[in-house]
Amino acid sequence: MSLIVVSNRVASPSKGAAPGGLAAALLQGIQRSGGLWFGWSGTSVADPNDAYRPSVVKTDKAEFVTIDYPQSSFDGFYNGMANAALWPIMHNRPDLMVFEDRFFDDYVEINRRTAEALVRFVQANSILWIHDYHFLMLAHYLRERGVKQPIGFFFHTPFASRASIECLPRHTQLFEKLLSYDLIGFQTQEDLEAFHDYAVSSLGATPQQTNVLEFAGNSIRLAVFPVGIDVDDYARMADSGDTNPSIALLRRALSEINTVIGVDRLDYSKGLPQRFAAYDRLLSDHPERKGTVQFLQIAPPTRSDVPAYQQLRNQLAGMAGDINARWSTPTWTPIRYVNESYSPRALAAFFRASRVCCVTPLRDGMNLVAKEYVAAQNPDDPGVLVLSHFAGAARELDAALTVNPYDVGATARALERALSMSHGERLERWLSMIETLRRNDVAAWFDGFIAQLKRTRAPDRVLV
Ligand code: G6P
Repeated sequence: MSLIVVSNRVASPSKGAAPGGLAAALLQGIQRSGGLWFGWSGTSVADPNDAYRPSVVKTDKAEFVTIDYPQSSFDGFYNGMANAALWPIMHNRPDLMVFEDRFFDDYVEINRRTAEALVRFVQANSILWIHDYHFLMLAHYLRERGVKQPIGFFFHTPFASRASIECLPRHTQLFEKLLSYDLIGFQTQEDLEAFHDYAVSSLGATPQQTNVLEFAGNSIRLAVFPVGIDVDDYARMADSGDTNPSIALLRRALSEINTVIGVDRLDYSKGLPQRFAAYDRLLSDHPERKGTVQFLQIAPPTRSDVPAYQQLRNQLAGMAGDINARWSTPTWTPIRYVNESYSPRALAAFFRASRVCCVTPLRDGMNLVAKEYVAAQNPDDPGVLVLSHFAGAARELDAALTVNPYDVGATARALERALSMSHGERLERWLSMIETLRRNDVAAWFDGFIAQLKRTRAPDRVLV
């Protein structure tokens, strides 16, 4: 079997994963099992004739193949269809959706041309695993070019309610093409059920046996594979720390005072304004915490050409400034808000040094930060995870302090409870979570999906 993995972002074999859970999980999987990873180079080119030309980097186990997109389609595809339309829709935020017909056309174009560039790498014994909302239509265009090998798809995002998906103009045109895949994987059972409901009610797919749909003569299997991390590898990183002096300095600064840490891409799905408000509430409800707690929010900017992301950035800068202006003393800064990104090694060190981690998205497919924080803890003195009920990770990490992130008062109370939790309770909760993380690790996710995909046969697929 030769495995081909496709995602918009491809990790660089030398620099490691791009921000976001997807690239980190795939990098671990592909380095272990070998295969070819195909996707975008991160560059868009002015001359369309220079686009879609594969450039190949080989390592011992894997091959990394990237293509440039043409500038003419990139904006509509990435800033438009993927991140101004589909991302908010998948996170149940149709109010934030911006849709234009040209976004749709550019999305079709990039899916079609990417399939064309990919097809020459497909061999008789290939199986193809496509990732995330950038490539909902890829299997359709691969089938159009005669690819009969099994093709699977995995949603790293949640799958939204039918009510949200139906707000997307031309949604049936788009999602019908998704039914060209043989296997569709989801992070949670709720996501699977939401998709099943949408596919049956809005697309007219026919339910066959449990978790199998039939559409236009094709059969599509649905299954749940919660994405995980390599727990031991992550714990080792947290143990060994980071030798870079500025990282070591920051790590020390975090362990000298009770630190609440948050690490998120600067994205409205992450619930950051609500989290800032909850921390502010903690300080007003517990004046005795003044000077003894600090909040470090690391939030590297992402998708900064999309207006909703620019607005959020301004809002958070304002809120952080306001919190510091109201509460700071000459010797204490209540919130450190950093728009920089850090290496996984540095983050592991920060997690180890922080008493509490606050992961409070309004909606999230999985959220690997929650898992990484747990893996990074010192088993003798673990910290506490405050986790949104609306993160996929909450389905597995039920020993975290679970909160409704929209409830600012409840989140503030959970932070206080986390900061004052006894050693015994911290240990008990951590032991239960680390056990789950070991069971559902990144290898279980990767191998589980591939094993199912190998079992699906794509006889003579009908084009939809
Ligand atoms: C999320 C998505 C990924 C995406 C990542 C980073 O994790 O599920 O598909 O790659 O965010 O976003 P970006 O737009 O920078 O690729």
